[in-house]
Amino acid sequence: MSGVPAHERSSVKGIVLAAGTGSRLYPATRSVSKQLLPVYDKPMLYYPLSVLMLAGIREILVICTPEDLPLYQRLLGDGSMWGLEFSYVCQTSPRGLADAFVLGADHVGDDDVALILGDNIFHGHAFSELVREEARNIDGCVLFGYPVRDPQRFGIGVTDERGRLVSLEEKPRNPASNRAITGLYFYDSSVVEVAREIKPSARGELEITDVNRVYLDRGKARLVDLGRGFAWLDTGTCDSLLQAGHYVAALEHRQGVRIACLEEIALRMGFIDADACFDLGVQLGKSGYGRYIQEIAVEFGALTAGHTPAPVPDAVVGVL
Ligand code: G1P
Repeated sequence: MSGVPAHERSSVKGIVLAAGTGSRLYPATRSVSKQLLPVYDKPMLYYPLSVLMLAGIREILVICTPEDLPLYQRLLGDGSMWGLEFSYVCQTSPRGLADAFVLGADHVGDDDVALILGDNIFHGHAFSELVREEARNIDGCVLFGYPVRDPQRFGIGVTDERGRLVSLEEKPRNPASNRAITGLYFYDSSVVEVAREIKPSARGELEITDVNRVYLDRGKARLVDLGRGFAWLDTGTCDSLLQAGHYVAALEHRQGVRIACLEEIALRMGFIDADACFDLGVQLGKSGYGRYIQEIAVEFGALTAGHTPAPVPDAVVGVL
């Protein structure tokens, strides 16, 4: 069987949702899916994929529209180049985020599952340790909260004085808290049944907040606060998309490392070896991203087979 070897499979499956119309970014997204747009130096979808990989998740279902499917397949293939296993399902009309579990029922099977929205960018110190720990520990559902200035735009969570989650609301007009529920969710396998039971909301969609409320009512929803020192970046408007790109560029220029570089993560997670990683860098040709991968692979002992990796500094030094 191809893909991830049986003994290396995680008991948590991943789903990345990239099926929206992106209409808030028209005309930029008239002919291309929002999650394929670049955020500085790589497609937006790389950022949520990196989160799943850092959590140790290797079997990932990509949900997209039928029109975009060939583009996603061209970009991601079967995932084997990164030591992953991708499968694809199309959502033919916008039936809501929770539809991911109805469409992904076979993929989830009896396992736990992490859902991440394809336009959510997370970055912060010790985030990989946090997601790895949470992925090991799923009992019910785990939600991640983040303070925002405009909670009306999100699902929000309200906690009691002991920090326990007491209520959840989707895009409330008068929010009772400024804590947004981010687009990363961990569930046990019963989420498929929960999603099948909920009814469409007034806008005709299966709302993820309704799924989360079922877990909350069962006393099985936990909120993990990401805190203000962390970056959860928005890509919902032209301005926030541009700002996200600037954020990534600023950090990459300053530190000389790349955020959400899937080849590097695959190497550091032990999904691929240094030689395979080096080859991926060579395939990406002359881009700074490709040279960075080659450089990292060499650090990890890659045999460069006659290729001399170009020095990285010119790739990451520049003006913002
Ligand atoms: C969705 C969810 C919302 C969540 C947000 C995170 O909103 O419905 O609860 O806070 O993602 O990105 P949407 O971006 O689809 O409007």
